[in-house]
Amino acid sequence: MEWLESSWLAESVRQSLWLYPLLEILHILSFSILFGAVFLFDLRLLGFSRRLPITALAKHLFPWVYLSFGGTILTGFCLFIVDATAIAANLAFRLKLLLILLAAINAAVYQKSVSKSSQKWNVGVSSPTKVKAIALISLILWTAVIGSGRLIAYL
Ligand code: HEM
Repeated sequence: MEWLESSWLAESVRQSLWLYPLLEILHILSFSILFGAVFLFDLRLLGFSRRLPITALAKHLFPWVYLSFGGTILTGFCLFIVDATAIAANLAFRLKLLLILLAAINAAVYQKSVSKSSQKWNVGVSSPTKVKAIALISLILWTAVIGSGRLIAYL
């Protein structure tokens, strides 16, 4: 943590008047796109807008999910290294990283085990219970990530 805090990147962010607020803005922008895309896809899996083909929605949203996830991690890391020792000890931050890991595993379960059969429940029919469960878990986990992220400043 001390090595990260003394890195030239951490030093540059600390020395700059506008770099930290800019990183915060980019962090918020990235996770807003991430959460928005995940939220809308999960609602479709839960059965909203059944006339909307799941495969077409996935093709539209998933590139933004991957891009915004990368952007959130990158900006989050730059925010983190500025005060790595203190933030690493922050319970809300630790909880957030655990929740991000669980949400990523849940998304991988969707990709690996159910998305291949999505043609069977693509349009106009109810998604299988397993798919709805994955969507509900995703909504709960990502909402908790946002909540724990906000609590970092309070703990
Ligand atoms: C990928 C999912 C992530 C989401 C959804 C997320 C969400 C959030 C939220 C909601 C906040 C509070 C923003 C505010 O109220 O101003 C926040 C702050 C923060 N996040 Fe993340 N974050 C994510 C990943 C990360 C990662 C991977 C790191 C570090 C490795 C990180 C580091 C931080 C830090 C240091 C803050 C505090 C910034 C400050 O208020 O000074 N985040 N994040």
